[in-house]
Amino acid sequence: MQIYFAPLEGITGYIYRNAYEDYFGGIDRYYSPFVVTRDGGIMKNKEKNDILPERNSRISLVPQLLSSHAESFCRAAGQMEALGYQEVNLNLGCPSGTVVSKGRGAGFLGRMDDLQRFLEYIFERCTCRISIKTRIGMESPEEFGHILEIFNQYPVSMLVIHPRTRNEFYKGKPHMEVFDYAYGHSKNPLCYNGDILSVQDCQMISERYPALPAIMIGRGLIARPGFTGNGERKQAFAEKETVQKFVERLLADYRAVMSGDIHALFKMKEIWLYMAPHFTNYERYLKKIKKTNKLAEYQKTVADLFEKEELFSYNS
Ligand SMILES: Cc1cc2nc3c(=O)[nH]c(=O)nc-3n(C[C@H](O)[C@H](O)[C@H](O)COP(=O)(O)O)c2cc1C
Repeated sequence: MQIYFAPLEGITGYIYRNAYEDYFGGIDRYYSPFVVTRDGGIMKNKEKNDILPERNSRISLVPQLLSSHAESFCRAAGQMEALGYQEVNLNLGCPSGTVVSKGRGAGFLGRMDDLQRFLEYIFERCTCRISIKTRIGMESPEEFGHILEIFNQYPVSMLVIHPRTRNEFYKGKPHMEVFDYAYGHSKNPLCYNGDILSVQDCQMISERYPALPAIMIGRGLIARPGFTGNGERKQAFAEKETVQKFVERLLADYRAVMSGDIHALFKMKEIWLYMAPHFTNYERYLKKIKKTNKLAEYQKTVADLFEKEELFSYNS
C-alpha cells in the first residue's frame, strides 16, 4: 500500500515537503495544497513558487487545483503539464465557507448537475491524468451513492476519499461504512484519507481493504513525522534527535525565504500545535511557543522540550 502525504494549506508547502523527505522519506506522493484557477491561467507567484519543478525535484508531487470553471481548470492543467506534471488533482473536499459559497471544493458536491458537466468537459479535453480528492457529500453520507455513480463514468486516475461530509468539517468519526461502499463499487483506484494517526491505524486500513492501492495521511504525519516508517531508515525515526534536526531545519529554511522572523515563527507555531501533544509534559512548552514573538525565546523553549521531555512511541 502506497503512502501519500495529504495537502495541508499553509503547512505542506515545498519547504516542509523537502525537509520531510530529507529526514523521514517513505512517502510515495505528496499532494500540493490547492492552487485556485483563474480565468487567464492559474498562478499567483506564491502559488507558482510552490509548484516549480526545481523546488520539488527530489519528491513525487501532484499539483492540486481548486476550480469550478472547466475551461480554467483545463488551462491550469495545461500549465502544470508544461511544467512536467503528468497528473493534476481536483479538490472536491475543501469545506471552508468562502470556498463552498463559490461552489468550489466540497461546495461542488451540492451542485451535482454542474459537477457532471464540469467532469464531462475536463475529462474530454485535458491530456494529463486527473485524480480527485473528495468528501462524501455536503450534508449527508447518503449523498455518496449518487456522487460515486458520477465518478464511475470517468477515468479518474485516483479517487481519494475523506469519508466525512462538508458539514462535518473534521468533527466526529469518518464514515467507514461509506468507504466500504466505495471499496465495493468504485470503478477507479481508491485511496483512503482521514484520521490515520498511528501504525495501528495503517494496519487497520490495510486489513479492512487488502486491495487498496494507497492511503493518504495529513495531520498524523505533521503530529508525528515519520511514524509510517520506511525500511532502511526506520531506526532514525525512533530518535527524538531526528525530529529535533527536522524542526531546526524547517525554521532555518523558513527564515531564509520569509521577510522577518515573525513569519517563520508563525509557521513553526502552527506545526507545534500538532506535534507538541506527542511529548511528555508538553503543555507549558506549547503555551510558551504559542505566546512568544521572539525567535530566541522560541528556540530556547524548543531546545528545552527536546532536552527534558520524551516523545511518545510511534505506536501510541
Ligand atoms: C490546515 C489544513 C489545511 C488543509 N488544506 C487542504 C488543501 O489545500 N487541499 C486539500 O485537498 N485538503 C486540505 N486539507 C484536508 C487534508 O488534506 C485532509 O483531507 C484532512 O486533514 C483529513 O486527513 P487527516 O486526518 O489525515 O489529516 C487541509 C486540512 C487542514 C487541517
